[in-house]
Amino acid sequence: MDIIVMPTAAEAELLTARIIADAINAKPFYKLGLATGRTMENVYAELVKMYKAGKVDFSRVISFNLDEYVGLKGKAETNKDSYRYFMNYHLFNHVNIDKRNTHVPNGFAPADELDAAAIAYEEEMEDAGGVDMQLLGIGRSGHIGFNEPMSSFSSRTRVVTLTKTTYEQNSPLFTKPEDMPMRAMTMGVGTCLDAKRLLLLATHKEKANIVAAALEGPVTNMISATALQLHENAVVVLDADAASKLKYKEEYAFQFANDPKWAAYQPAKRKASRAKAKAKK
Ligand code: F6R
Repeated sequence: MDIIVMPTAAEAELLTARIIADAINAKPFYKLGLATGRTMENVYAELVKMYKAGKVDFSRVISFNLDEYVGLKGKAETNKDSYRYFMNYHLFNHVNIDKRNTHVPNGFAPADELDAAAIAYEEEMEDAGGVDMQLLGIGRSGHIGFNEPMSSFSSRTRVVTLTKTTYEQNSPLFTKPEDMPMRAMTMGVGTCLDAKRLLLLATHKEKANIVAAALEGPVTNMISATALQLHENAVVVLDADAASKLKYKEEYAFQFANDPKWAAYQPAKRKASRAKAKAKK
């Protein structure tokens, strides 16, 4: 696992957007797993800026979102609390992705069709050849997607019941907080682990404890994000606040600064001082 700590949330968001854009540019038919939530809003804003500046082309990207609420009224496209609406609003409406290639779990399916919709979602990912990179946030409960504590590491897309912690985290985001559903359809932990690469972003102090537990604590299904420790190609981007409770911060910084694969992502200042030092020799 690579852990990258940036001084500010804005820098962490920009770096995350750059990793995504570079991956798409390297392989245009990219299968991109996406996440919603406050943490992602500026990542998508950065990607929109990059698209408008001609730096990234989404025309052949196929996307799969992690999750969607179950029990919202009306249509996914028009219900402002839905994750489909979030994605259209923050990203899809502003870039050249073909909306037919964007997938969000169908939490709006009729009650007796939800299980079939979850299975169909897994099949769609499989038919597309699997997800190349899955973007992840982390909830206060330690969830990735909506995989609350006690989710099996082999779980697949399914309907889950949310925890009180998640209700408290997300209900303030609702037009009417009491309208937040208690259930959601989410990719499983196992589904996430199948992605070829994982990219988790966490920012701000409120995530510091859960980030430390997820990255440096024992692997446990009480904290779904600890599953990242089992993945062979996981990247975690943090701001200094979210990283503040990590024990081995200095080691991660040292590795990031010296790993050739991250050379292009070094903060400009550091790059410049290295160039200066070289010039002096
Ligand atoms: C969203 C998702 C969640 C969020 C997590 C963090 O699609 O799957 O796991 O990433 O709840 O949410 P924020 O960013 O609002 O703190």
